[in-house]
Amino acid sequence: MAGSIPPLHGPRYAQISGWGMAVPEKVVSNADLARTVDTNDEWIVSHTGIKERRVAGDKESTFSLAVRAAREALLVAGLQPSRLDLVIVATVTPEYFFPSTACLVQDAIGAAFAGAYDLSAGCSGFVYALNQAASAVRSGSAEHVLVIGSETLTRIIDWSDRNSCVLFGDGAGAVVVSACAERCGIMASVLGSDGSGGDLLIVPGGGSRTPPSHEMVDRGDQFLKMNGREVYRFAATVMPRATEAAVHKAGWQLADLSLIIPHQANARIIDAAIKRLNLPSDRFFINIDRYGNTSSASIPIALCEAIAAGRVNQGDRMVFVGFGAGLTWAAAAVEWGVPEPTKPRPWYLRWVAEIWYFLAGVRSVARRTERHFYDRVMGPEGADGVRGELRQRTDRLRLKIAGSTQRSTQPKPPKSLPAPPPPKQDPPNDDHGNTPPK
Ligand code: UT7
Repeated sequence: MAGSIPPLHGPRYAQISGWGMAVPEKVVSNADLARTVDTNDEWIVSHTGIKERRVAGDKESTFSLAVRAAREALLVAGLQPSRLDLVIVATVTPEYFFPSTACLVQDAIGAAFAGAYDLSAGCSGFVYALNQAASAVRSGSAEHVLVIGSETLTRIIDWSDRNSCVLFGDGAGAVVVSACAERCGIMASVLGSDGSGGDLLIVPGGGSRTPPSHEMVDRGDQFLKMNGREVYRFAATVMPRATEAAVHKAGWQLADLSLIIPHQANARIIDAAIKRLNLPSDRFFINIDRYGNTSSASIPIALCEAIAAGRVNQGDRMVFVGFGAGLTWAAAAVEWGVPEPTKPRPWYLRWVAEIWYFLAGVRSVARRTERHFYDRVMGPEGADGVRGELRQRTDRLRLKIAGSTQRSTQPKPPKSLPAPPPPKQDPPNDDHGNTPPK
C-alpha cells in the first residue's frame, strides 16, 4: 500500500501500491457469436483459446470502465485521489479524440492536483504507461501515479467479420505506482516499435488522413482491420525477446521469474513464448478464455486476477509483456513489494471513498455551472461602471484561485539566493515606432 514518501536525495523506487479491474457484466460466448457469423466454438477455442468475452452495455464506455478500475486501485492503495500527481490512460478506444479520457477520469475521481493524458501504443499501452509512471516517480517529479488500461474494442469491431470479431472484448485495469525507499517495484522496462508494420493492425478511417464521410463509413473503414497471420508471426517472436531483454536489463535470470503476465491476445502465441523461453507453463498467467483480447487492459486485468488467486507474493519477480498495433512491444521487470496483497480494506473506507467521489461530482458540476453563468452574471469583459469593476476584481480572484491549485508542498526556491537583477529596459521608441540608435 502507498506508504510514506521517500526523500528525493535517497534511494527511490517505484512500486505498485494498488490495483483494480472492471469488466462489463454482459458476457458473449462463442456460441452466441456462432449465431450471427460463420464460426463455431471449436474453431475459436482451438485457434485462440477464447471461450467468452465481455461486451460493454449502452451506458458503459472506456471512461466509465476506467473510473471503476481506478477507484478499486485507489482503495487498495489506501490513497486519496487528491494525492495523485499524474493520471495516464493507455487506450486505443478513447472516449473522444479529445479531451483525453485521462482528463475525464481525473475530474470524476477528484484528482485535483494531477496532470492527465492518454497514451496510444496499441496493446502494449499499459506497459508503456507503467514505464512512464515509474520514470516520473523515480525522478522525483511524481509521488503517486495512476496508470489505467481501458478499452471498449467491441465499439470498433465489424461484427460481421469473423476474422476479428471473435477475438476482442472490453474491460479496464488500473494500478497506482508510488514512490518507495525499499528496493522493489518496476526495476526495468524495455519499449520497442516498428512503424513499418502499422498497416497490419489499423483503424484506417476517421482520422486526419480519411476524415469521417459517408463513403468512409460505406467502406467500413471505421472498423479495426487486421492481418492476423502477420501479427501472429510478429507477436510469437517479439514476446519472448522482450521478456528476455527486460530480465537482462533488471540483472536477473529467466529462472528467477515466478510469474509472467503476457498480453492476452491468443493462447497459441503464449504457448509459443513458453516453448521459446523454455519455462514451465505454470509460470504464465492466462485468462484469455474469459475475456478475449482487451488490448491495453489485458495485462492489468490479468494482474488483478493473479493477485486474487494468490499467485503474487512479496519479493516475487515478474515480467509484464505486451505487443500490438504500431507495431509496438514492451516488457517490464517487476519485483513485488507489497506485503499482504489480498488483505481486504475495511468496509468504512469504501463509504469514505463514496463520499469523496460524490463531492468530486459536486465540484465538477459547480465548476461547469460557474463557467456557464460567469459571463452572464458578471457582465462582459471590459464593461464600464460598477459591474466592470466587480468583473475585474472577480477575474483577479479567479486567477489567484487557479494559481493556488498547485500543491502547497511544491519546493520553494532557497531563501539564500540573491535576488535576480532587474531586467534591462529597452529605450523608448520615437514617434514613428523606430528604436533610436544606441
Ligand atoms: O493484440 C494484438 C492483436 N492481434 C493478435 O494478436 C492476433 C494475432 N493473430 C491471431 O491470433 C491469429 O492469426 C488468428 C486467431 C487471428 C487467426 O488464426 P490463424 O490460425 O492464423 O487462422 P488463419 O487466419 O490462417 O485462417 C485459417 C482459416 C481461414 O480459412 P481458409 O482461408 O483456410 O479457408 C479463415 O477464413 O480459418 C478461417 N477463419 C475462421 N473460421 C471460423 C478465420 N476466422 C474464423 C472464425 N471461425 N472466426
